[in-house]
Amino acid sequence: MSRLIVTIDGPVGSGKSTVARRVAELLGYAYLDSGAMYRAVAWKALRENTPFDCEEKLAALAGATRIDLVSTDGSYRVLVDGTDVTQQIRTAAVAQAASKVAVVAGVRTVLVSEQRRAAERGGVVMEGRDIGTVVFPDAGLKIFLDAAVEVRAERRRLEYAQKGERLEFSEVLEEVRQRDRRDRERAVSPLVRARDAVLVDNTAMGAEETARLIVLLAREREAAKAEAQQV
Ligand code: DC
Repeated sequence: MSRLIVTIDGPVGSGKSTVARRVAELLGYAYLDSGAMYRAVAWKALRENTPFDCEEKLAALAGATRIDLVSTDGSYRVLVDGTDVTQQIRTAAVAQAASKVAVVAGVRTVLVSEQRRAAERGGVVMEGRDIGTVVFPDAGLKIFLDAAVEVRAERRRLEYAQKGERLEFSEVLEEVRQRDRRDRERAVSPLVRARDAVLVDNTAMGAEETARLIVLLAREREAAKAEAQQV
């Protein structure tokens, strides 16, 4: 089989989710959003009042949580212990909490092993921050998706506006800069480009164009893999 693991890492607003989903669709691969898993653990921790400064409790909670990412008919649902939390994990409060649980090494160990299991048979597009560096250092294709910070902030502002939240551009720009700092400067699994990741800067590209470029790269790698398997 020449089906690959494709990793897409990058900062907030780089278009990871839209692009990764579309790449998976075009390749006929499964799509896996690792950020949703950190959000799922954070959602449960908030609900159970788990103290965010207790790493042991957070790690134990992650170990005792069943997270299912279910793709059906183009929609993507996130289940925590059987409860559908697809909408609930997208709030600002859960995003904040997720960035706190994401720094806990014990939580990461649990989720990384889940992520590896989910991609055992290949044919997966997984997006996140450390997928090409930590989760799948030997992935068949690694992409680091980026765009100018102003463009990423404007994308975020539009997303908020679509949900009815009207924010000033300068406010969103500051938020994006702060999240960039937190993602890139944390001690455990910081956001960095893997040395063998292809840097795709989509400052001046739309999501569809970006996805098609990645699909071209994936097809080339699939063909090379198939050829290598024949020799
Ligand atoms: O991509 P997102 O905003 O849904 O991610 C939620 C949080 O999880 C965010 O703080 C970054 C973190 N995260 C991570 O540390 N490692 C990943 N592989 C994916 C997300």
